[in-house]
Amino acid sequence: MHLEFMHSRNITIIPTDSSKDSPADIQTLDALITALNTGEQSKYNQLIRSVKFPNNYFDRQSSWCDNSYTRNCLAENDKFELILLCWNAKQITPIHDHGGEECWVVVIDGKFRETLYTEDPSGNLTAIKTIISKSNDITYMIDFMGFHRLENLSNKRSLTLHLYAKPIRSCNVFDEVTKKFVNKDMVYSTAPLAEKF
Ligand SMILES: [Fe+2]
Repeated sequence: MHLEFMHSRNITIIPTDSSKDSPADIQTLDALITALNTGEQSKYNQLIRSVKFPNNYFDRQSSWCDNSYTRNCLAENDKFELILLCWNAKQITPIHDHGGEECWVVVIDGKFRETLYTEDPSGNLTAIKTIISKSNDITYMIDFMGFHRLENLSNKRSLTLHLYAKPIRSCNVFDEVTKKFVNKDMVYSTAPLAEKF
């Protein structure tokens, strides 16, 4: 989950989209899943920037753990994966890549720090950028940008919505003890709510 710009909707690289059509706000999970299912991946950047969920919309899908943030699958198929991450205060991901896939992170509630890293030929990681994001901010990540980690800066429970296209079945995770990346299969904390649409 990198160096954060100033804030708001600033991101490192924004995939271009030549369409001038601006979709209406997407306010429900069903509407978002339908749009992702029917739309091309080239439209996903535009789609995810159209989401506007009501406050507390994800209460029913949230789950919490004292030891780690949780990954709650909202939808999964061959095209994409939508995951709700639920974070207790100060919880943090390991440094990781994204299995070659595109990744968008929408902050539903909270304040997060994303730190981006690059790896030199000797395998040493260097933090190159930090991004602070707040509710409704969206960040984008793909492997050519490097590796990243995401941390909940809030002193309260917080939520982020992650769109991966295609789904990430495994990714490289940095082991802080051995100082090497290890490929790990991704797992869900809760089963998909909407599968194989
Ligand atoms: Fe990530």
